[in-house]
Amino acid sequence: MTEHIRVDGERLWRSIMEMAEIGATANGGSHRLTLSDEDKLARDLFAGWCADAGLALTVDQMGDMFARRDGSDAARAPVGMGSHLDTQPYGGRFDGVFGVMAGLEVIRTLNDHGVMTVAALEVVNWTNEEGARFAPSMLASGVYGGVFDLDWAQSRQAVDSGAALIDELKRIGYYGEADLRAHEFSAFFECHIEQGPILDSAGISVGVVNAAQGFRWYDIKLEGFASHTGSTPMPGRRNALLGLARVAQAVDDIAHEYAPLARGTVGSQVAVEPGSRNVIPGAVEFTVDLRHPSAATLDAMDAALRAVCAETAADIGLELTLEQISDTVPVAFDEGCVAAVKRACERLGVSHQTITSGAGHDACYIAKRTPAAMLFAPCKDGVSHHESESAEPEYLEAVCNALLHAVLDIAGVKA
Ligand code: GLV
Ligand code: MN
Ligand code: MN
Repeated sequence: MTEHIRVDGERLWRSIMEMAEIGATANGGSHRLTLSDEDKLARDLFAGWCADAGLALTVDQMGDMFARRDGSDAARAPVGMGSHLDTQPYGGRFDGVFGVMAGLEVIRTLNDHGVMTVAALEVVNWTNEEGARFAPSMLASGVYGGVFDLDWAQSRQAVDSGAALIDELKRIGYYGEADLRAHEFSAFFECHIEQGPILDSAGISVGVVNAAQGFRWYDIKLEGFASHTGSTPMPGRRNALLGLARVAQAVDDIAHEYAPLARGTVGSQVAVEPGSRNVIPGAVEFTVDLRHPSAATLDAMDAALRAVCAETAADIGLELTLEQISDTVPVAFDEGCVAAVKRACERLGVSHQTITSGAGHDACYIAKRTPAAMLFAPCKDGVSHHESESAEPEYLEAVCNALLHAVLDIAGVKA
């Protein structure tokens, strides 16, 4: 009865483009940091669209937005769809937004066709997926998944102002009463752009994501001694930036040592003190991001990082502070949900391929409690976390259709 239903690809595209106008950047991207004024506007726009679609909105204590469409069986937990509306600084128009808009497009399509599902459906906007303004990433979905304590997550501080997350939630009017740890889904699906080159280079429409690699984030501080660049002799200097240079090279080396799957990066968030060209850097703060699909390999990379930081600090005479702020373990998505996505692609006759996610996603933490899977769309040249991020409307439509039919499969259709 529902097998011929298709989403409205143009409406999906228009919604993504309209959302992209909030925090639009000069070079075609979006700058919409978590709980900024732009994030509030994006949330308001989404909430308005949900109301237009007849959905009931709940906001929880992390500011997550759950927009619900009832099913015929109130006893069944809802099937969730969604992702995030926050972006990286000067990020792209699709990362996160596509997953939220795809969920909304599924609802709009079911409304158009008067289809009622057995389980309720929910479109979700998760707070602070990116981890750029508040570290670590996937913070709210991590609370949902039991990875982070609610209090700890609410007290994380903004890198720009030091404001606590809970205060920023209240400031923009998105602190809610609902306890997300009590929220239940029967399944969860997240659509996303691939953020890598595999699908784009193969011209495949849908990535059926069966796993995601693990990653660990670190906050590191090296403290030396700031003094005059001209009069301080070279021997005996305690140059903190020199320590960072050595660690940055070592992180790159570690990733190469575990090639081809490993990734290792000192992120583009570095603070050097005191901030003068003729003062030796007295202290540096920076971040490290290590990734690999195997937890055992991540352990080895972690040990190598800790060793090189300690050796560097001892060699240059620096004081080292190393805090690991997240450990996102490799994820295998639910076989039943993955199979539902694959079946949907087969029935739709769209090209598809099984793929592992290189990036972290809310679904990775949701999967700790709920059967979950992801669907990827190709993005141009695999570029993401950049203003030039780009995706073809036809691919987004194909992925959204696969979402629609996977969700109908799992939620059931009322006869
Ligand atoms: C989350 O966006 C990540 O860093 O992979
Ligand atoms: Mn994302
Ligand atoms: Mn991202």
